[in-house]
Amino acid sequence: GKVAVLMGGRSSEREVSLMSGGGVLAALLARGVDAHAFDPAERDLSALKAEGFARCFIALHGRYGEDGTVQGALELLDIPYTGPGVMASSIAMDKIMTKRIWRFEGLPTPDWRLVASAEETREALAALGAPMIVKPAREGSTIGLTKVSTAEECAKAYQLASQYDPEVLCEQFIEGDETTCPLLEEAGVVKALPVIRIVAPEGNYDYQNKYFTDTTQYHCPSGLPLAEEQAIQRIVEKAFRTLGCRGWARADIMIRASDRAPFLLEINTSPGMTSHSLVPMAARASGISYEDLCLRILASASL
Ligand code: DAL
Ligand code: MG
Repeated sequence: GKVAVLMGGRSSEREVSLMSGGGVLAALLARGVDAHAFDPAERDLSALKAEGFARCFIALHGRYGEDGTVQGALELLDIPYTGPGVMASSIAMDKIMTKRIWRFEGLPTPDWRLVASAEETREALAALGAPMIVKPAREGSTIGLTKVSTAEECAKAYQLASQYDPEVLCEQFIEGDETTCPLLEEAGVVKALPVIRIVAPEGNYDYQNKYFTDTTQYHCPSGLPLAEEQAIQRIVEKAFRTLGCRGWARADIMIRASDRAPFLLEINTSPGMTSHSLVPMAARASGISYEDLCLRILASASL
């Protein structure tokens, strides 16, 4: 039946989603799937039913797409979709909820504070130590994020983050290797793909370096010792299951330089699928082409 590739949407990651969706759409078309672009910012989702779409590939990022809202609408419309369901999508969009659950379950994640003012941000810096990351609880692609080292920087960082979300998170910065690890669930089995190690210019893996420059280095194979790579894979598999994810996702992990301890930062339940994106890169390293990856994710669509 007809497949809708949901792309665009109303979040601040709209531009990224259009790139992800464009890639997915081209891949599905190349493999003979009757696929069509559908932008929920422009059209009501109920049209999906009226127009006879059988499944949706969700290539939306951020709020109103990755956060359980669209997933809930598709449940009501009875149209199977890719990626995690309503609850897992909604929890994973919220970095604070995610961290609470991981911490409760004994999974490693950096210490954090939820703050509601510049003053509380300064208090968080004193408590967590410098440097720390200040970021909106429900955003993606490093939008609204600042790394702060001094009390003077706190007000501006809080103000920026709170423009995107009233919930602002301060998180201890883990100095070390930045890595990410995609997950694919097929026939009920969750498997981590190879780990990617990211080396960004001046350690700054921001919006620009994520999508628009070619100066970030991606290592896949990661170059990490095998035992470390496998430990990361087991942790992300557990992190995925703990939140009740399904289908696919990508977890971001820092490896602390001082003792090589891994720390989960977050899990993205509708990861980027742009030409610069990391799930396609890890898939390629394990012999899965971009087109096959899209078909396999689509095959996991469910309700
Ligand atoms: N939030 C972006 C799209 C990602 O995680 O890939
Ligand atoms: Mg993210």
